[in-house]
Amino acid sequence: MDRNNITMKKNIVTGLDLGTTKVCAVIAEISENDSINILGFGIAPSEGMNKGLVSNIGKTAEAIKEAVKIASNRAGLEVTTLNVGVAGEHITSIRHRNYVTINNEENEITKADLDRLEADVRTIRIPSDKQILHIIPEEFTIDFQGGIENPIGMSGSRLEATNHIVLASIPAISNIKKSVERAGFHVNDYILQPLASSSSVLEESEKDLGVALIDIGGGTTDIAIFHNKSIKHSKVIGIAGNQVTNDVRESLGIVTDEAEKLKKDYGYATENSIIKDEDILIRGVGARGNSKIPVSLLTQIISLRMRELFSLIDNDIRNSGYKNKIKAGIVLTGGGSLLKGCIELAEEVFGLPARIGVPQDLGSGLSNEIESPEFATVAGLIRGIPGEKSSEFIPEVVKTKKQKEKNTTNNKMTDIFTKIKVFFDEL
Ligand SMILES: Nc1ncnc2c1ncn2[C@@H]1O[C@H](COP(=O)(O)OP(=O)(O)OP(=O)(O)O)[C@@H](O)[C@H]1O
Ligand SMILES: [Mg+2]
Repeated sequence: MDRNNITMKKNIVTGLDLGTTKVCAVIAEISENDSINILGFGIAPSEGMNKGLVSNIGKTAEAIKEAVKIASNRAGLEVTTLNVGVAGEHITSIRHRNYVTINNEENEITKADLDRLEADVRTIRIPSDKQILHIIPEEFTIDFQGGIENPIGMSGSRLEATNHIVLASIPAISNIKKSVERAGFHVNDYILQPLASSSSVLEESEKDLGVALIDIGGGTTDIAIFHNKSIKHSKVIGIAGNQVTNDVRESLGIVTDEAEKLKKDYGYATENSIIKDEDILIRGVGARGNSKIPVSLLTQIISLRMRELFSLIDNDIRNSGYKNKIKAGIVLTGGGSLLKGCIELAEEVFGLPARIGVPQDLGSGLSNEIESPEFATVAGLIRGIPGEKSSEFIPEVVKTKKQKEKNTTNNKMTDIFTKIKVFFDEL
């Protein structure tokens, strides 16, 4: 054993990702120098979550119990408190500026001044059903000189902060709390899922240059934009991998498991990525026997929804005002990013370079088991949010204007249904 490690303080942290398709828990040992040792990892199917929201407390509690139990057994230790990820379309973010005057004799900025700024943010009026999930300082300005990362110890008479404030629905958070407590644990911290994913898959240089992280899960797609090292925008969209599977299921008249398998084994996000347009076997249900369709037809179904999703994200990025600032491009993560052809479609729709984000710097232990995009969130939950000041109250729900795009997709879906019908009739 390394003798230096004997004196080093270590913390045990447990991350819990309540996904729409899976609940997973990671127990890690974090050293004083921030190095990570993954001690335990457990996963359980998720049946009580829908689009980032708890839809069944009992089922979610059971999945939490199972995932944490597996992780605990492997780690050989009991845990009681968990860092839990939060997502869902109820999440909104706002940018807020405020300032305080510096009163002490030397005009030196102290931690107490930052606390006053934060206390002031907490007095903002917000809808009664919302709470502040995160207050993340983007930058500080001292006497009108901007771009300051850490003002403590600097001199000035007026300290201004620009904060990225994330709001969440109180009932949504409360249902997560109830599920965790029913499973026999306590919540240590609630962390926005895209923030967690970003801390595990993004390079500091990408955050500095400008990057958009897109986590495509089963029920939700989470977006986070970083520039000059700090978060500038975050958003959660209720379209993701499950909807793609559902389109395949409905279009081909097959069961969900078969649709999921076809998507993963043969599907592409865009027809341009198809390597070989072979016929694939489809197992029919009931009176409809087995049949065959070409990969290109399956891909047309998948591609429509993926294009709709990427177009919605592109609109959101444009509306955020950061489209021309994301010089490092797009990083795709989450299980949905494992769909073949995702990078090609992203590069086409966003007009930017794209890569797949896999959790990095997980140190020793069981790290190889979570080095996959599906585990980007849970890998981030064990790190917490750098520079963040925790929760309580705040405003505004921005509804997505999806109807127009939805109608276009529905029309195209009808075309594909017609094609499929002709295809089956011709067999
Ligand atoms: N190889 C693959 N090809 C295509 N899609 C895949 C592949 N592997 C997983 N997926 C899709 O990824 C999705 C699940 O992703 P993930 O595990 O990140 O979701 P989650 O965290 O449970 O859900 P959410 O974050 O939305 O609450 C499913 O829709 C699944 O079909
Ligand atoms: Mg997820």
